[in-house]
Amino acid sequence: MAETKLQLVERHIRAFPDFPKKGILFRDICPILKDAAALTAVIDLFEEHVRANHQQVDLIVGLDARGFLFGPLLAQRLGVGFVLVRKKGKLPGATVSVSYELEYGKAEAEIQEDAVTPGQKVLLIDDLLATGGTLYAACELMKKQQAEILGCLVVIELKELNGTDKLKPLEVFSLVRY
Ligand code: PRP
Ligand code: ADE
Repeated sequence: MAETKLQLVERHIRAFPDFPKKGILFRDICPILKDAAALTAVIDLFEEHVRANHQQVDLIVGLDARGFLFGPLLAQRLGVGFVLVRKKGKLPGATVSVSYELEYGKAEAEIQEDAVTPGQKVLLIDDLLATGGTLYAACELMKKQQAEILGCLVVIELKELNGTDKLKPLEVFSLVRY
């Protein structure tokens, strides 16, 4: 039987034990990016989901750094703009920031003050959902900007870390779950 898009994506995710710290099983999406068909499959699956579930999307908001790999491709498919949520200190001009905790550390997320117009309908995108801290922080930034958050898109969801609970009632669409 022919391989599905989802199977193609799954086949291009690798796992590295004890990276970047002992006890973490790091899920690596680099092979997806190295394979044109697998990368196209990711964007196809996200596009199909968005078109089936959201009548209007104004902006795709990508999370530093691996959300930047998928976000602009999806935004271009949908014919909408892309906005960056960055780690602190990387964006020029007036910014808004929030701090958050990760599966393996602490960080601060930042966005340009004029990135989103109040009322714009946004979808957040990242490569992976672990504890949900990163996406939660990005949602806080979106709330500060008075955006309407439609939901979150991730390639990988690590179910045992319960990130979707942290983000409730927001919808998280994931392609591959471990
Ligand atoms: C990773 C991943 C997500 C986040 C998920 O990014 O790309 O953004 O962790 O974890 P959480 O759900 O527990 O918040 P990381 O902060 O390692 O940064 P990077 O993308 O710059 O490598
Ligand atoms: N970000 C947080 N946890 C991760 C994991 N286990 N693999 C890859 N990226 C991550």
